[in-house]
Amino acid sequence: MIKTCIFPVAGLGSRFLPATKSIPKEMLVVVDKPLIQYAVEEAKAAGIERFIFVTSQGKSAIEDHFDRLQLLEQTLEKRKKFDLLHKIVDSALEPSQAVYVRQPAPLGLGHAILCAKHLIQDEAFAVILADDLILSKTPCLKQMINAYTPEDGNMVATMVVDPSHVSRYGILTISEQIEQKIRAINVVEKPTRDVAPSCSAVIGRYILRHELLDTLHKQSPGAGAEIQLTDAIQHMLPTTPLTGYSYEGERFDCGTKEGWLEANIAFACQNEDVYAHLVPMLKRYVDNYTHQH
Ligand code: UTP
Repeated sequence: MIKTCIFPVAGLGSRFLPATKSIPKEMLVVVDKPLIQYAVEEAKAAGIERFIFVTSQGKSAIEDHFDRLQLLEQTLEKRKKFDLLHKIVDSALEPSQAVYVRQPAPLGLGHAILCAKHLIQDEAFAVILADDLILSKTPCLKQMINAYTPEDGNMVATMVVDPSHVSRYGILTISEQIEQKIRAINVVEKPTRDVAPSCSAVIGRYILRHELLDTLHKQSPGAGAEIQLTDAIQHMLPTTPLTGYSYEGERFDCGTKEGWLEANIAFACQNEDVYAHLVPMLKRYVDNYTHQH
């Protein structure tokens, strides 16, 4: 029973500057919703009841986004814009569901999760990185929770990446794969291509045992002088197994401009109204480009 999800949203988002100077990366919009709302909706669909956001200075827009806005709601009601009213009411979180904690400095993903340690009891919990947006029939976290058993230990979502990209990810050393579950005997953060044990990369969905928080607590900084989550998962091996979950769906790295742009196109294709405009629009740009080059 996994009922708590942590959303680390305290990173600098430097790859998306200058947009992220005053807008949190997690508030970047894909078609008509901010990334963090996709993440919360995915968690809700997976049965999560407690939403913990690890934020930092300049990220208050995230807190505001999940609040009720009385004046706006009343105005939409008066104007009989019920569709929009439902959308904004549905996007809010109840005060009892949402908790916000601060990470005082961007000391790494592992450190961000550690900032929520006091809120986690003796329970496995989920983590979603909102900048990894996944388009799938069944929400990715739901697929993982459905498949998870305590024997899986720590579970990470995994996908096969191009060998030239392994140095951007945590990479699994695989012992066996049974259907969508991959038994991993090691995980290494951002290896170079020549030493990478596989092309199975960890992406931003996790189900973690609560003991991981004690490991993180004792851990010193790793790659990039940051407290790395993958290092803590590695330190728990071999006493706590590590399972990769090869999910169904397409993932977009919305922490990069190309990934974010592609996500907009992919999600727009899911939306009938936008799709009708998108295809001729793209065709026009591609034709113009081909003509000029
Ligand atoms: P990233 O590795 O994408 O880092 O973090 P970043 O700082 O957000 O972006 P760049 O690399 O500067 O462009 C993955 C997730 O972990 C969170 C981020 O907010 C993002 O959701 N994170 C990262 C934290 O909460 N705290 C940190 O110290 C680092």
